[in-house]
Amino acid sequence: MKQICVVGVGYVGLVTASCFADLGNHVVALDVDENRVENLKKGIMPIYEPGLEELVHRNTKGGRLSFTTSYAEALAGAEFAFIAVGTPSGMNGSADLQYVDSAARSIAQNMTAPLIIINKSTVPIGTGDWVADIIKSAQPRPIEFAVVSCPEFLREGSAITDFMSPHRNVIGSLDRDRDAANKVAQLHLPLRAPIVITDLRTAEMIKYASNAFLATKISFINELADLCELVGADVKEVAAGMGYDARIGRHFLDEGLGWGGSCFPKDVEALAYMAKEKGLNPRILNEVMNVNYDRRKTVVKHLEQLLSSKLEGKTIGLLGLAFKPNTDDMRDAPSVDISNALMAAGAQVRGYDPVARETAASLMPAVEIFDDVYEMAENCDALVVVTEWNEFKQLDLEKIKSLLVLPVIYDGRNIYDPSLMIKMGFNYRAIGRGSNGQ
Ligand SMILES: NC(=O)c1ccc[n+]([C@@H]2O[C@H](COP(=O)([O-])OP(=O)(O)OC[C@H]3O[C@@H](n4cnc5c(N)ncnc54)[C@H](O)[C@@H]3O)[C@@H](O)[C@H]2O)c1
Repeated sequence: MKQICVVGVGYVGLVTASCFADLGNHVVALDVDENRVENLKKGIMPIYEPGLEELVHRNTKGGRLSFTTSYAEALAGAEFAFIAVGTPSGMNGSADLQYVDSAARSIAQNMTAPLIIINKSTVPIGTGDWVADIIKSAQPRPIEFAVVSCPEFLREGSAITDFMSPHRNVIGSLDRDRDAANKVAQLHLPLRAPIVITDLRTAEMIKYASNAFLATKISFINELADLCELVGADVKEVAAGMGYDARIGRHFLDEGLGWGGSCFPKDVEALAYMAKEKGLNPRILNEVMNVNYDRRKTVVKHLEQLLSSKLEGKTIGLLGLAFKPNTDDMRDAPSVDISNALMAAGAQVRGYDPVARETAASLMPAVEIFDDVYEMAENCDALVVVTEWNEFKQLDLEKIKSLLVLPVIYDGRNIYDPSLMIKMGFNYRAIGRGSNGQ
């Protein structure tokens, strides 16, 4: 049993804290958001993540997990302090490090014994050294410490499984802090995953490189999807056929309306920014972003084609608002840009999402958000599948058809079978599915 402090109880911090507690460690999780901490003390989750509530309850009841806003309390007796605060996009696409800065300063001011400080936030290359400088300068008196990088690779929606069964754990440190890195590796041993021990900057780069590569796979298949439509090939089968090749792999060859969320957009942008800052021209990364954001713009044109009319005065319903299924996270969700584009074209927009209704409402005040998918569909001129929630796969499509003004569905995530949809009488458009889905 180790004594761990986790700073920041968002998607990554709360999962990290509760998983380490579940592995038998004693974890104190800290956040500056008093409301968040008060709610967690009452067992109320700040985010939607499958399995998280049960995990938090089990470990708070077991006395292994607690929450606080006090750094002094969280650090008392801790051997490890994970920094898991946000690193959103800042100026010119660079990562905004103000929360990391503030967390590092607070740790420095409140630590009373030697400490291993672990950067779990996704941070630009060189941040580990910068954090070490902050700690050194902000300590009231010198206390031994080491800074280790241990980037997180979990995905929202399957965060607990991803944390507990990772593909690998990456741990980076300066040579002088190798003992600390080995101790962090020991913490991860119960996860039984390969452990990559490397230097600080390489660990930081592995995280950005991984996210940028996955985003590239999605933009690649999306570019091919457009070509598939024009040459009469089916992109879903192309992805399956490619994916059997172990050198390629099927994961993230997912055509559709593109990626969004709290990681890919800011991480690809931040990596491109770092390259530009060093005088390089990140051509691939720039096009990966361009291809992705163009997906959102084409929805208006495709709907106009399906409806054979302009969107002025039409009512369009969005199936799904969260940036992906199984989360309530709306950060850079395609639904926001898509609804804005539809409204700019004169349409009225409605939306339905199984869990992101509240988070969506504040971001899209002009969109009418419904609690029931069939109520939303009633009198819509067309529906757009924006997020591939499982519950949309088994909708009563006959009922949906009877509720729509026109039987028009634009399937932005290819969740339906084109031939079946056409047989049912839908005016249906899929993505990249040759002559079938158009
Ligand atoms: N969300 C993901 O799927 C994911 C996956 C892998 C890596 N990451 C990375 O992990 C980091 C955290 O992401 P997230 O999605 O969990 O963020 P988040 O916004 O959900 O949570 C961040 C939390 O940190 C708290 N915080 C901010 N400043 C603080 C401070 N000084 N002291 C204590 N708490 C503070 C905030 O109140 C918030 O609760 C980011 O760098 C992100 O890129 C995220």
